[in-house]
Amino acid sequence: MKIGITGATGQLGRLVVEELKRKVAANDLVALVRTPEKAADLGVEVREADYDAPDTLERALPGIDALLLISGSEVGKRAIQHRNVIEAAKKAGVKWIVYTSLLHADTSSISLAAEHRATEAALKESGIPFTFLRNGWYTENYTGSIPGALGAGAFIGSAGEGRVSAATRADYAEAAVAVLTGSGHEGKTYELAGDEAFTLRDLADEISRQTGRDIPYKNLPEADYAAALTSFGLPEALAQAIAGWDVAASKDVLYDDSRQLSKLIGRPTTALSVAVADALKSASTPQ
Ligand SMILES: NC(=O)c1ccc[n+]([C@@H]2O[C@H](COP(=O)([O-])OP(=O)(O)OC[C@H]3O[C@@H](n4cnc5c(N)ncnc54)[C@H](OP(=O)(O)O)[C@@H]3O)[C@@H](O)[C@H]2O)c1
Repeated sequence: MKIGITGATGQLGRLVVEELKRKVAANDLVALVRTPEKAADLGVEVREADYDAPDTLERALPGIDALLLISGSEVGKRAIQHRNVIEAAKKAGVKWIVYTSLLHADTSSISLAAEHRATEAALKESGIPFTFLRNGWYTENYTGSIPGALGAGAFIGSAGEGRVSAATRADYAEAAVAVLTGSGHEGKTYELAGDEAFTLRDLADEISRQTGRDIPYKNLPEADYAAALTSFGLPEALAQAIAGWDVAASKDVLYDDSRQLSKLIGRPTTALSVAVADALKSASTPQ
């Protein structure tokens, strides 16, 4: 069975390819990528597949049995891009599509959910057997801000006391591989999230504990947080989007206690303390 992985040069995609190579023969894997030059080190067959270019998708998908469609990174363009992939997959006779969606995509009030709902609907309409992996937040979305928080002496955000059931990219990658290499997953929707939810105050407490410094959590109004992110060099639209997602998180939109992720991977999800330790280690390692 040939397994195709889109977005294979991305952070999640690379982890999926690495993990798949431990489970199946490398020549059963095909990296479907926008930028083939970036995929030379993956150690599997590489085919050009740009979500914006249906001709590349039509050339790339024949012979693929199972397709992991990793959602694209260009917010606002993704419903059309994913539809392009689904249409090409239909023409190519792909037998199963596993799609990385968003936690509680059907009911979530977070702005990102609409594109995931549209893709899930397109998949259902396509008639191709599907599995939805509704991934929650990456822990790295927050641990990536640790160096900045240490520099500023506080961890800032707008998530209030909201509980975030985050898990690491490696946890989600392992779940995708468990599904792709397992059986009985067709037609299923998995709400994937970390076992232990945390607030941003919990995160700041953990950073303080591990560094021996006092790094408090400072909750900011949405506009102030967006302005702070812009001042760090983020484009204004992205800064506003991130602040908005934090406000959504304050309403527990990113909370889930179903533990479907740890059930799929057969182990607990990565603890916050481990993710913080890893982030502190890589922050202190010269890159
Ligand atoms: N759950 C979360 O917290 C969270 C956070 C961020 C993102 N996400 C979603 O999860 C996905 C994977 O996460 P990630 O961390 O791996 O993101 P990432 O590192 O930004 O990777 C995104 C991948 O999508 C590919 N891509 C973007 N536009 C494309 C196009 N037009 N055609 C083909 N491929 C395209 C990129 O290709 P290149 O390598 O050529 O750039 C890259 O490989 C993201 O794309 C996003 O949908 C989830």
